[in-house]
Amino acid sequence: MSYKKENSIVRIEDKTFKKFLNESEIKRIVKKLAVKLNRDFKNKKPIFLIVLNGSIFFGADLLREIKLDCSLKTISAKSYGDNMTSSGYVEIKESEFDIEGKDIIVIEDIVDSGYTLAKLKELLETKKPASIKIVTLLSKPSRRQIDVKIDYIGREIPDKFVIGYGLDFAEKGRNLPDIFALEKE
Ligand code: IMP
Ligand code: MG
Repeated sequence: MSYKKENSIVRIEDKTFKKFLNESEIKRIVKKLAVKLNRDFKNKKPIFLIVLNGSIFFGADLLREIKLDCSLKTISAKSYGDNMTSSGYVEIKESEFDIEGKDIIVIEDIVDSGYTLAKLKELLETKKPASIKIVTLLSKPSRRQIDVKIDYIGREIPDKFVIGYGLDFAEKGRNLPDIFALEKE
């Protein structure tokens, strides 16, 4: 698979991605979300649940801004389909954990169809937490197939496929510090 990075352009195979959100904009968005979470969960001891792999960078940066007495867990979710759209079939690798009576904050990178979050929420609910809130860096509201409540949204974006800052195209591009959007052919 060919990969080429220039200043504001990334090419993977025959696809061209253009810079869409730069590092400093991402940082601002993350900080704003952290301010809200610090305020809303004051005096609580939430468990942050990072949804792997996409949310690794966002989760790590967000948590460094969190001042609460909190803990961190991870869960792995994969939605099968082609490289850009969800099939609606979501596989969640459940780790053994007890969240009964706890306040859970799920950290997502991006919400597209909503299938991943809906499935994850359903699974978490069976474990009887006190509450489940969702924070996502990005959301594409026009792509939603299933109605799922998102409590904290960093930035709503149009129907664009994006990579970087943890987000991938066929596992490529996660390491980019900025976010790039696919140019329509
Ligand atoms: P959903 O289940 O369709 O809401 O999609 C959720 C998952 O698909 C996200 O957590 C991402 O991992 C992936 N995804 C959705 N849109 C994009 C995108 O634009 N770029 C990269 N990954 C995406
Ligand atoms: Mg994800």
